[in-house]
Amino acid sequence: MYRILKPILFFLDPEWAHHAALASLKLSKPLLSLFSPRLAVKDARLIRMVFGLKFPNPVGLAAGLDKEGELADVWGKLGFGFAELGTFTAHPQEGNPRPRVFRLPAQQALINRMGFPNSGAMAAAQRLSALRQSGRWPSIPIGINIGKSKLVPLEEAVEDYLESLQHLLPYADYVTVNVSSPNTPSLRKLQEAKPLKKLLNAMVKAASGKPVLAKLAPDLEEKPLQQAADIALSTGCAGLVAVNTTLSREGLPPGVYPDGGLSGAPLGEKALRTLESLARFTKGGVPLVSVGGIFTPGDARQRLEAGAKLVQVYTAYIYEGPRLPARLCRGLLEKPTFNTTRWPLAKGSKNHEPLRK
Ligand SMILES: Cc1cc2nc3c(=O)[nH]c(=O)nc-3n(C[C@H](O)[C@H](O)[C@H](O)COP(=O)(O)O)c2cc1C
Repeated sequence: MYRILKPILFFLDPEWAHHAALASLKLSKPLLSLFSPRLAVKDARLIRMVFGLKFPNPVGLAAGLDKEGELADVWGKLGFGFAELGTFTAHPQEGNPRPRVFRLPAQQALINRMGFPNSGAMAAAQRLSALRQSGRWPSIPIGINIGKSKLVPLEEAVEDYLESLQHLLPYADYVTVNVSSPNTPSLRKLQEAKPLKKLLNAMVKAASGKPVLAKLAPDLEEKPLQQAADIALSTGCAGLVAVNTTLSREGLPPGVYPDGGLSGAPLGEKALRTLESLARFTKGGVPLVSVGGIFTPGDARQRLEAGAKLVQVYTAYIYEGPRLPARLCRGLLEKPTFNTTRWPLAKGSKNHEPLRK
């Protein structure tokens, strides 16, 4: 089906195609249960226990695809083991002017400079509350990804993140603090030691025991990356998501490219290198979620073997279509990565959870 649909969708402007695809998914919600057995692979060997949550499989939907959390009840039926919704901001905002998403089909990549368009955390909370009341709340873990509102100065970022958290915490199984999008001016400065410590401390405290993760950029040098990892550990973060899109054009043929963050196949190498560094720095102290350029079961397995507990996909889903999660899960089952933790396990640990600091 996607083989027929893809040329039509790829004929449209990428953002229109995105909205068309989400709208058709919304319309076909009642039919999804029919397709679900083919799209969602259920197998006990895929189950992962990570930061105290049970994931039916380790393949998640990355943030940014369901920016408004409109399809929270759909992603599990499409085979994802978890879904990260957002990025949400405290203030509703339109994002950057269009066009702001660009396809690079020959490179299996995207460049975007969306700038967190969303109707705001309060509207999202109302939508998610309605979903819960309807009795259709998803059975997979739901991550809530929070970013800074564009109009709020960096010095007031903590209050802005906390405002979003206050609205959305009831709907989060885990919370991701996004300090790494390249499309909100100065946002990535929040990865620096002092502001990061302040922000993560405040978010962990306000999350009332729910797991808080920090999402990092692939463009951090080793030293700031290690510093960010140390801060995440010392502030009680439950995990790290690596990586967001890159400003680098490494892996692309020489040429002039639109401004924005690059994702997809050319990001794979950088994402793997960042994961390996983080695995070394954290020594299993916090679970790692790897994202960036994952297209094949081999890619997913490589990340799990390099220290990730879970993986996420975005760009590959656009290029490969709705069968991707099932394909990744089946591939993992063919050659399972049973215990992916290379670091000492907690004494008496039964579920391969690493020792938490
Ligand atoms: C169009 C687009 C929008 C995105 N929006 C967000 C976002 O709102 N928040 C976020 O944390 N990451 C966002 N991302 C980054 C993805 O979550 C992911 O980290 C990145 O694309 C790398 O994964 P991939 O190579 O599988 O796409 C976006 C990516 C794309 C392509």
